Amino acid sequence: MSCKILVTGGAGFIGSHLVDALIERGHRVRIFDNLDPQVHGKEQNIPDYLNKEAEFIKGDVRNRIELLNAIKGCEVIFHLASVVGVGQSMYEIRRYMEANTLGTAILWDILANEKHSIKKIIIASSMSNYGEGEYKCVKCGDIYPELRKKEQLKRRRWEMQCPKCSKTLEAIPTKESKPLNPTSVYAISKKDQEELSLILGLAYNIPTVALRYFNVYGSRQALSNPYTGVAAIFSSRILNNQPPVIFEDGLQSRDFIHVSDIVAANILAMEKEEANYQVFNVGTGRRLTVLDMANILLKYLNKSDLRTEIVSKFREGDIRHCYADITKIKSLGFKPKVTFEKGVTYLTEWVKFQSALDIFDKAKDELYKKGLVK
Ligand code: UD1
Repeated sequence: MSCKILVTGGAGFIGSHLVDALIERGHRVRIFDNLDPQVHGKEQNIPDYLNKEAEFIKGDVRNRIELLNAIKGCEVIFHLASVVGVGQSMYEIRRYMEANTLGTAILWDILANEKHSIKKIIIASSMSNYGEGEYKCVKCGDIYPELRKKEQLKRRRWEMQCPKCSKTLEAIPTKESKPLNPTSVYAISKKDQEELSLILGLAYNIPTVALRYFNVYGSRQALSNPYTGVAAIFSSRILNNQPPVIFEDGLQSRDFIHVSDIVAANILAMEKEEANYQVFNVGTGRRLTVLDMANILLKYLNKSDLRTEIVSKFREGDIRHCYADITKIKSLGFKPKVTFEKGVTYLTEWVKFQSALDIFDKAKDELYKKGLVK
């Protein structure tokens, strides 16, 4: 059955792919997006990739009137509008809390106080809610460690240690039940979005689902944005014949998920009633080190002569390992389809046609200037 769907942040990386999939399924889609210059450039043009069949409203989630108008007549909201730079959030605190936390508060303020026809909301949350991932100590059992201490990192001892017996910990898949421990302003704002939505959804009987995305990559990830993910940074760098610069020792790991699998999870969350009022991890369940990821990119871009550059420095606030336990979302019928090896071919096919800019230098400058790389 088709319905009218609002996608906030629908001109962005993930939102625009979701819009395509919804339209393909026969839904009528309205995009609400402020075309943030950090993502869309200072001209704030509507991106060429935007689906022509979607209705587009330029507006900001911090503006109650604009958002109220956008919600009118819709039955489902995918709330993806957010600012997303973890490092940047540590010095643009107000901007992050306003766009992410206040923006979500305004959305719920409208739903609580105005007439509307919304029947379901799906929120884009993040693995950053967890802070460090879940670990196991051979002696002490399951451990939810804090971030590594600065003294440890200064000694270039990268692996996590058991807070009880100091043995090196083994990373295990992170479950939704892991206590949350956000370690950046961005992560706090994502936790706010999730908690506000689940609590208010229950209070007003509006089925709500929060999806905790792991490390998403794919086409349309803003290469002009220095705070974009590591896969996009490395691809742009390799295509400029520059070696990928790897922090720590490269053995830190993440769960890299292709944007098409994130879209599939969003659609399941909308369609399945069992998902209502629940939180789900959205990852592949597979763990890849940053070094392996860089080497796969070098291979697929036929640049095996370039070597990775391992700098033994660390980024303030970085976690060591986090990958998803996807048992819960699998019970809805989710199955990640795109392996990293396949996904990089999609990513690099797209990156090749982007203007040859190297976003790493911009990212590095920002972080070094603020003393966030040591
Ligand atoms: C963070 C957030 C995540 C968010 C993502 C993109 C946390 C725990 N996670 O993920 O929610 O979606 O940012 O905004 O806050 N690296 C290099 N060289 C580079 C760039 C990065 O080695 O040039 C390393 C980093 O040090 C890190 C890993 O790659 O160890 C992943 O970094 P990144 O892609 O920024 O994502 P996260 O920090 O995992």
